[in-house]
Amino acid sequence: MKSAIAAELDTHWAWRPVRRTRLRWGRWLAARPGFPRLPEITNHNIYLKSLPRAFAGLRIAQLSDLHHGLYVSLREVEQTVELVNYLRPEMVLLTGDFVTQSWVHIEPVAQALGQLRAPLGAFAVMGNHDHRAGAETIERHLSRHRIHVLRNRHVLVRHNQTMLGLAGMDDIRYTGNLRAALRGLPTGIPRILLCHNPRIFLDAVGQGIDFVVSGHTHGGQVKVPGFGRVYRRSFHSGLQRLRQTQIYVSRGIGRVVLPVRFGCPPEVAVFHLKPSSGDENDPHASC
Ligand SMILES: [Fe+2]
Repeated sequence: MKSAIAAELDTHWAWRPVRRTRLRWGRWLAARPGFPRLPEITNHNIYLKSLPRAFAGLRIAQLSDLHHGLYVSLREVEQTVELVNYLRPEMVLLTGDFVTQSWVHIEPVAQALGQLRAPLGAFAVMGNHDHRAGAETIERHLSRHRIHVLRNRHVLVRHNQTMLGLAGMDDIRYTGNLRAALRGLPTGIPRILLCHNPRIFLDAVGQGIDFVVSGHTHGGQVKVPGFGRVYRRSFHSGLQRLRQTQIYVSRGIGRVVLPVRFGCPPEVAVFHLKPSSGDENDPHASC
């Protein structure tokens, strides 16, 4: 039986020599200083209006863009899961791109993510690469490992007789449907949206979402001083706000196109929920 790497190299035979070369020099480069591999843990206070007292101080970890495949080994995914468990979050949000392109990596990454420990659960949405590799298969495997997959739907997360709304949608370039995800979601409670691509932000502002959690950009992945980012995006990473809606864009964990990151370490983001007055002049309401 072929190894997972051999299977992925064979997926597109015409690209095989290019991929083999990238893999070789990528492994060599990744061992050099300045090419970070270990995730950086970033902490962020997220102020939400109408946050029930029971949710104040809640710790939520976000993992994005694992891209298990040719450039990201299963061991790297497992180490990241161990790191998240060490942080002891109450909830884990997974914002897509679990694999890069091959279906052979789906079951292993789902099994590794099944080791996540969070009392309020782990929730996932699909990224653009997941749709290409097989969204239905990924959904089935993640669900088998007790991960709640939100495909254009929402759930109410209950904690000490209070609740917050957590909506998730498919990637916007595939079958994403924000209206379907929000249909029937009560008002008057905090509303969090998981969407792989941050380009949903303006639509989310229009729908009165409190907090959008995204990935997709890899934070640029390769930042060369003097040349800016290799990948240019409007929301490339970090926390931003427009009116009452905030968005966090994770740099993610994995690598695509190039087998390395440079000047842009992988990231595990941890959100600490705090109550806010909702007043835009309130310093706690701004980011
Ligand atoms: Fe990605």
